[in-house]
Amino acid sequence: MAELVRFGVSLDKKLLEWFDRLIHSQNYSNRSEAIRDLIRENLVKEEWIKGEEVAGVITLVYNHHQREVVNILTDIQHDFHHLIISTQHIHLDHDNCLEVVVVKGKPKEVEKLAYQMKSTRGVKYSTLNMATTGKGLV
Ligand code: NI
Repeated sequence: MAELVRFGVSLDKKLLEWFDRLIHSQNYSNRSEAIRDLIRENLVKEEWIKGEEVAGVITLVYNHHQREVVNILTDIQHDFHHLIISTQHIHLDHDNCLEVVVVKGKPKEVEKLAYQMKSTRGVKYSTLNMATTGKGLV
């Protein structure tokens, strides 16, 4: 296990009250774990900015009856096949599909893939969840 270091933090009383309320609502049992997560979130943002290898999830919702949407999304995914680890397709109802595309690669390429799919006509909703390979985190 990594060596633990304790350090003191000076904070405005009001800010600390807000922080405690926030982390309580998020089910943290103590401040340390909440602060560790805040630091990790910022490190992951840094990975995306620096262009290091990242992992992520692209979520799409679309109506598969919309003309050509399925073919276009398939073509795009084949163009970026080197980034895609896994794709899951769920038929939500008679018309709507939800697709989850798990990716790993350079942030710029992952974003390019996400933007191309998002801007495809017929896609109703799309998000890119910017995650991490976990290699740079403890
Ligand atoms: Ni479907």
